[in-house]
Amino acid sequence: MFNQTNIFNTNYFICKFVNNFIFIIQIQINMKSIDAGAYSIYFNELCYVELNSFLERSNFSKIFILVDTNTHNHCLPNFLANVSYSSELEIIEMEAGEFNKNIDTCTQVWHTLSELGADRKSLLINLGGGVVTDLGGFVASTFRRGISFINVPTSLLAMVDASVGGKTGVDLGSLKNQVGTIIFPVMVLIDTLFLKSISKSEIRSGLAEMLKHGLIKDAEYWRRLCGLKSLNLCDLDHLIHESVVIKNDVVKQDPNEHGERKQLNFGHTLGHAIESYFLSSENKTTLLHGEAIAVGMVLEAYLSNKTCGLTNEELSQIKKAFINLYGLIKFNNKDKNSIIELLIYDKKNSHGVIKFALIECIGKSKIDVIVNEDMIYEAFSYYDS
Ligand code: GLY
Repeated sequence: MFNQTNIFNTNYFICKFVNNFIFIIQIQINMKSIDAGAYSIYFNELCYVELNSFLERSNFSKIFILVDTNTHNHCLPNFLANVSYSSELEIIEMEAGEFNKNIDTCTQVWHTLSELGADRKSLLINLGGGVVTDLGGFVASTFRRGISFINVPTSLLAMVDASVGGKTGVDLGSLKNQVGTIIFPVMVLIDTLFLKSISKSEIRSGLAEMLKHGLIKDAEYWRRLCGLKSLNLCDLDHLIHESVVIKNDVVKQDPNEHGERKQLNFGHTLGHAIESYFLSSENKTTLLHGEAIAVGMVLEAYLSNKTCGLTNEELSQIKKAFINLYGLIKFNNKDKNSIIELLIYDKKNSHGVIKFALIECIGKSKIDVIVNEDMIYEAFSYYDS
């Protein structure tokens, strides 16, 4: 298993020394596009070929690009350099961070769209991490009862999860993703060169979703991720592609999350409650989504061991992998009580019953598992031990 310091090394580039000049060559793999049914997911150079051809034939009245403060500086110049368009184009900027993923920010973006003359034939391009793609998708799906949008994820988490599958939405106070829609973008463009500008902790955050894909669907993929000593762009390109294939296969079977799609929530029932609790607690540092669901996956692996037949050996393998990569977070009794109270807001619940998506073994999941509260406290004790 790779550790925290070498997870993201500088193999992004090959440096060549020729006549005392250094040539930096960016290595990027061209990967097959993925058919998501209602839309397609394109990778790397092909993103711009497909986007430019789509813009040329679509005749949008105006194009809007939603960025946050970070992607405005670090991603937008490169994106614009690759895009050709004839419609008028406007940039809308929101503040970065989960804290701003709320209805107030949506209201500001709706107003800005309106003031800048957006109509039903306008296009919104969401250029950013999960906050921008979730919020931008929601804004687009509701403005004038819905305008077209494209997701251009710039963080690993958004590439392998948030931008794909049509979930859009915002938080309600500190409660995650309580308000939203399921609606598909017209395309998703995954250019892995954007990962150059993000931090190691954000890479780790995205990696948690990739590890989840292995745990619920593909034991061999999980083993491969765990066996990596470091990540370079070539590895990452293929791994991102594999994760998107896994997620897309699940979503295609059940886009509206009546059954099959619930398995993508492994680690998220407790993970979201932990993330919300840390977001609302003044004396806690905010956790990145992947850091919270990493804890959630260890806790829910314990529940899987008690209720679904996950072996002791696989349980300890999962715990070891996540603790090595994400470290151990301390929870006191008050924290545990508050987190467990928050479980009632989980979107998978119905009729007041909390339902978990768990795993029977690495690579095979089981949905709608009812677990009692005592077992959740035991799961925290196992995590701490
Ligand atoms: N992030 C889980 C899903 O898209 O269903």
